[in-house]
Amino acid sequence: MQIIKSIDALRAAVKPLAMQGKTIGLVPTMGALHDGHGALIKESVKNCDVTVVSVFLNPIQFGKNEDLDKYPKRLEADAKLAESLGADFVFAPSVAEMYPDGDPLTLVRDETLESMYCGAYRPGHFRGVLTVVSKLFLISGANHAYFGEKDYQQVFLIERMVRDLNFDIQIHRVKIVREASGLALSSRNEYLTDLERSQALSISTGLKQAKETFEKGERRVAVLRDVVIKSILGNRGQVQYVEVVNQKDLQKFNGALREEDKVVILVAAFFGKTRLIDNIELN
Ligand code: PAF
Repeated sequence: MQIIKSIDALRAAVKPLAMQGKTIGLVPTMGALHDGHGALIKESVKNCDVTVVSVFLNPIQFGKNEDLDKYPKRLEADAKLAESLGADFVFAPSVAEMYPDGDPLTLVRDETLESMYCGAYRPGHFRGVLTVVSKLFLISGANHAYFGEKDYQQVFLIERMVRDLNFDIQIHRVKIVREASGLALSSRNEYLTDLERSQALSISTGLKQAKETFEKGERRVAVLRDVVIKSILGNRGQVQYVEVVNQKDLQKFNGALREEDKVVILVAAFFGKTRLIDNIELN
């Protein structure tokens, strides 16, 4: 496996393989890889001839008061993990390589959904994500890209962008990977103290309880939301949002669900200073 830092070098390495008819899979990451990323890499390795894992801490998707500076960085360990799972290239460009002119003037945005849910609390976040993901698609020339469903709104926006802009790439969603405790894997879990980590289980427990409540026949959105909110508040978490939204268009539901509605509960909550997100589909 090769670690590549320049755009030209990645293109020079991947293009000839694509010309030979090999399929290229891309796993975009910001590094600090865990088993959730591992699941994405495994999917790509299983389905594609060549797998590129990008490790780029993208500054333009972080707000001023967010955790860009303290975000864990460990390229060597990331590369080892990627290699052990069968990746062919780790693409780890510098900020100057990706944004040689400073912050880009051309941005990719979703006018409608980028300011909802996570976007409402992280202004500019999704345009930073869509912009860097577009760049990574163009740089890698990948035919397939793999994203985790923990970032439900993110993968939805990326799928929509691919359709809207006719990117020639297939997006694959990979299910959330959880610890045995239920906690969804995230690089940000590393910020949690032991106490906060045990309190943070209230997110997945609350989501599971809401799903059980739904399966017993409860269809009132307010009741389903309340199950999750109570679980988090009862464990010293601060709820940022809990919303029941349509899987198809991410529009919010109020009132009662109908049999045909396919929804997902999206959550963001703080434990101490750490913001975590999670979700569960109700089908
Ligand atoms: O999900 C992430 O880690 C990031 O948002 C992504 C998709 C790698 C873009 O920087």
